[in-house]
Amino acid sequence: MTVVVTGGVRGVGLGITTAFRAAGAHVITCARREPDGLPEGVGFERVDVRDADAVADFIGGIADLDVVVNNAGGTPYLPASEGDARRHAKVIELNLIAPLIVSRAANRVLQGRPGGGSIIMIGSVSGHRPSPGTAAYGAAKAGLDNLTASLAVEWAPRVRVNAVTVGMVRTEKSAMHYGDAAGVAAVARTVPLGRLAEPADVGHACVFLASPSAAYISGASLLLHGGGERPAFLDAAAQASTASPTRGQQPSTGDAIADTHTPDREDNA
Ligand SMILES: NC(=O)c1ccc[n+]([C@@H]2O[C@H](COP(=O)([O-])OP(=O)(O)OC[C@H]3O[C@@H](n4cnc5c(N)ncnc54)[C@H](OP(=O)(O)O)[C@@H]3O)[C@@H](O)[C@H]2O)c1
Repeated sequence: MTVVVTGGVRGVGLGITTAFRAAGAHVITCARREPDGLPEGVGFERVDVRDADAVADFIGGIADLDVVVNNAGGTPYLPASEGDARRHAKVIELNLIAPLIVSRAANRVLQGRPGGGSIIMIGSVSGHRPSPGTAAYGAAKAGLDNLTASLAVEWAPRVRVNAVTVGMVRTEKSAMHYGDAAGVAAVARTVPLGRLAEPADVGHACVFLASPSAAYISGASLLLHGGGERPAFLDAAAQASTASPTRGQQPSTGDAIADTHTPDREDNA
């Protein structure tokens, strides 16, 4: 298989790139900046996924394309009432418009491939619950789910379109969001499975969705969040009432945690 992973050079994207390489795929990544290093055998092109012409040249030039993973994304922390409107619009441009641009370019190639192909969106739990401080991001990720469902209908039967809806992931940037090792460990205790996701967990989910084992899966969103967030009201009730049936259970701060990941360059937001 030939697989394109946008932003597949670090963080979650590198986990996806590595998983496809381990499965024997030829992987090509893109980002705005040349990475310091990449796993052996991985191709790279400098492309801004918001630039439709550059994306058309990049994806259109890969004649043996089989799979595209729309991973490039993220947001700075920016309350909705702050900053100028353009910064919020840029977050939506990166997290919703760019996946549409990349998917359209991929579909043009994949419709002509003998076995069709597959497109995977990297979504977020922020699109499934309130996303305070990253409202534009949450809205864009919610839109990505609907885009997934619509494209899956429009481009069937040759192209399958799915999403992986990701919870908190341990990346190079975790300290920026959750503090030191103790902070990361405290956050991990709020996850039912007891840890943050590793980038490899996301990669394995993508390899599955791209594989023949998922041949009948299209328009789906696969939740990859370790069991999700414990509802905050249970703990509020437990703290307020000695008679509460939830008393004695582990407190959770899960609802307060946003999977905010700040792109290094300001021009994404
Ligand atoms: N980390 C988490 O906890 C988490 C949780 C849920 C969902 N996710 C999702 O997972 C995906 C990756 O997140 P991450 O935390 O790994 O982010 P990250 O560490 O910031 O990596 C983002 C990657 O995308 C590239 N990129 C950013 N803007 C781009 C653009 N305009 N054109 C081309 N490439 C661009 C970056 O490279 P350049 O800056 O050089 O362009 C980088 O390689 C995102 O879609 C995010 O929403 C992450």
